[in-house]
Amino acid sequence: MFETDMVKKSYNKIAASYYSHRDLNKFNGELDKFIDLLPKNGHVLDVGCGAGIPTGKYLVSRGLKVTGIDISDTMLEMARKNVPEGNFINKDMNKLDFNENSFDGIISVYALFHVPKKNHPNIFKQFFKILKPGGILLINTGTSESEGLSKFFGESMFWSNYDPKKTLEIVKSVGFSILFEGVLVRGGEFQYWIFAKKQ
Ligand SMILES: C[S@@+](CC[C@H](N)C(=O)[O-])C[C@H]1O[C@@H](n2cnc3c(N)ncnc32)[C@H](O)[C@@H]1O
Repeated sequence: MFETDMVKKSYNKIAASYYSHRDLNKFNGELDKFIDLLPKNGHVLDVGCGAGIPTGKYLVSRGLKVTGIDISDTMLEMARKNVPEGNFINKDMNKLDFNENSFDGIISVYALFHVPKKNHPNIFKQFFKILKPGGILLINTGTSESEGLSKFFGESMFWSNYDPKKTLEIVKSVGFSILFEGVLVRGGEFQYWIFAKKQ
């Protein structure tokens, strides 16, 4: 897919500068809430895991098992160094092929907005399938419908979002129960966040 290739190439180039500017503490509160909802020593899939910080590293430090997927090899190399306890795999979230009922939790933050929105319904369907019953999903996306390209750290980047109402409708329609949804400002950025549960 043209968009995925562009996103992958750009993150391979900008990985280090992205993390040198990243506020690593901006969603600590959401990470704590997510962990509180998970079983001790549970297994979490981090989708679009980037360099494994803060998410993977924090989850591992709290006793959870982490599998991270990303399309950028540079990000994955960084993740393996930052979180040696994690398992980091090159995989596109459009092609999730994990077994049914594999994970206690799925987190995907600051990543879904790089995937064409027409694919979001199928991605949420796969998230539901590969979570165990009672499993928890935490995602964020943009706050308004949009699709297009812009420069990000000097490279071309693809962005795509439904508006929050549509994202919520999709997440509910695949079977999730909503624990929290709303726009939050973190690190000065507005994002739409959802905590959901596979009942
Ligand atoms: C803005 S970074 C965020 C990384 C990390 N989640 C964080 O919070 O720091 C977005 C990440 O999503 C990854 N990504 C983009 N499209 C993806 C796809 N289709 N499948 C898997 N990962 C993807 C990028 O390579 C990049 O590492």
